[in-house]
Amino acid sequence: MTCNSVASRRAFLKTSVAAASAFAAPAIVRGQNLNSQLQFAGIGTDGKGFSDIKLIASHDKVKCVAFCDVDLSRTAKIKPLAPEAPVYQDYKKMLDELGDKIDAVSVSTPDHTHAIISLDAMQRGKHVYCQKPLTRTVWEARQMRLQAKKSGVITRMGNQIHSHSAYRTAVKAIQDGIIGKVTAVHSWVGTTGHGRSGLLDKPAKGEAIPKSLDWNLWISVAPMRPYGGNRVYHPFTWRDWQDFGSGAIGDFGCHLLDPVYSALNITGDPLSVRSEHTGMNDEVWPAQETIKYIIPGTQYTASRSLPITWYDGGRRPSNGIAKLLPGQSLPGGGSIFVGQNGNMILPHYSQPFVNIEGVKIEPVESLDHYHGWVDGCLSGKQPSDGFEYGGHLTEAVQLGNVAAHFPGETLEFDGIALKITNNSDANKYLTRDYRTGFEIASI
Ligand SMILES: NC(=O)c1ccc[n+]([C@@H]2O[C@H](COP(=O)([O-])OP(=O)(O)OC[C@H]3O[C@@H](n4cnc5c(N)ncnc54)[C@H](O)[C@@H]3O)[C@@H](O)[C@H]2O)c1
Repeated sequence: MTCNSVASRRAFLKTSVAAASAFAAPAIVRGQNLNSQLQFAGIGTDGKGFSDIKLIASHDKVKCVAFCDVDLSRTAKIKPLAPEAPVYQDYKKMLDELGDKIDAVSVSTPDHTHAIISLDAMQRGKHVYCQKPLTRTVWEARQMRLQAKKSGVITRMGNQIHSHSAYRTAVKAIQDGIIGKVTAVHSWVGTTGHGRSGLLDKPAKGEAIPKSLDWNLWISVAPMRPYGGNRVYHPFTWRDWQDFGSGAIGDFGCHLLDPVYSALNITGDPLSVRSEHTGMNDEVWPAQETIKYIIPGTQYTASRSLPITWYDGGRRPSNGIAKLLPGQSLPGGGSIFVGQNGNMILPHYSQPFVNIEGVKIEPVESLDHYHGWVDGCLSGKQPSDGFEYGGHLTEAVQLGNVAAHFPGETLEFDGIALKITNNSDANKYLTRDYRTGFEIASI
């Protein structure tokens, strides 16, 4: 591991920041020195956070300088990576105390805390790797896009399959025109929107909060509620609950729709969205859902708009849509790209195939998603799925969750105004009420 002296490193950073400011990067952009180390802090240290931090830290220029988790009982696995690094419960305290010692952070916490942590880090000039979905709400995803641009930091969404051979191969095949222009996309996942905690409503009474856990910080932006006991909300089962997680589409939409957005080069906002599902209350997400989007067309689509249909909880496109050849079968999750000359099926995640006799797809190599972000932080080159891209994708995913509140109704969306134009009641679901002390200011 190369280690420059702190003084010469800071001198270099000052020079590169001064040079960068000529190109209107207003915030301090740290770490743009290929010979330097990236001083990195991991926020959320168990679950997905453990593998995120481990894989980022496997880059030989990364030095772990701190870790943060609101539950100190979930930090044991991470400590051996850098036994000398301090462990915090409060990310704000960590960023305040360590200041310039941190160049970059990963945010691998539950969805409802991605925005508040990442926005704060970007405002302090830190590069950010944030898990998918980028945020819990549409409005927050927009703020992430705006802040990343304003801060001029290097960002990446934690949809690591973006860099995997299967998805990269699919993107190239579509752009090479293997099925001609695309007329529709169908994407599905077997996961259901609730059922992980076995509950449909809040437990009637709370449980004692474990000593290791700062429940106030875990709740963060959401309305306070009593700690529910192990695996009612924390860890992992928060996904089911509307206050914290984003259901099946939140869990998997930024994975499965990623190659769709990349292949078709979708940069516009959905024009409309409609959800049909098996029912939901005000607490948890539906068990099974179908979401129909109309997206602006691109150079890779046959028309000026494109229908994308999402299915979860066991729903999937019909065999009539797939039109498989003998011997082919639909995977448990994936996408069908319907083209003018045939269909491409992309399993989640293995190599794509087409229903055109004799046509094979040449695989493209995988890249290292995590090291790609680190290299970007060190070189100043933004990787392909930064917050501009991930923000757009997350806005679409979370619009699906807005539509879930109005089943069977087509909601029309004005992406520039960030507004549902044909149902004023729906607009409140684009954002949320922030708990006092955990507000997010608009960028
Ligand atoms: N990319 C993928 O393939 C993939 C896979 C799994 C999860 N995820 C994403 O990773 C994120 C975490 O999911 P998970 O399954 O690991 O959840 P989890 O609940 O198992 O783990 C989250 C960790 O973050 C900690 N935490 C919670 N709030 C915090 C805060 N405010 N500050 C610091 N630490 C905090 C928790 O104590 C816990 O250790 C989610 O956004 C999820 O969607 C991505």
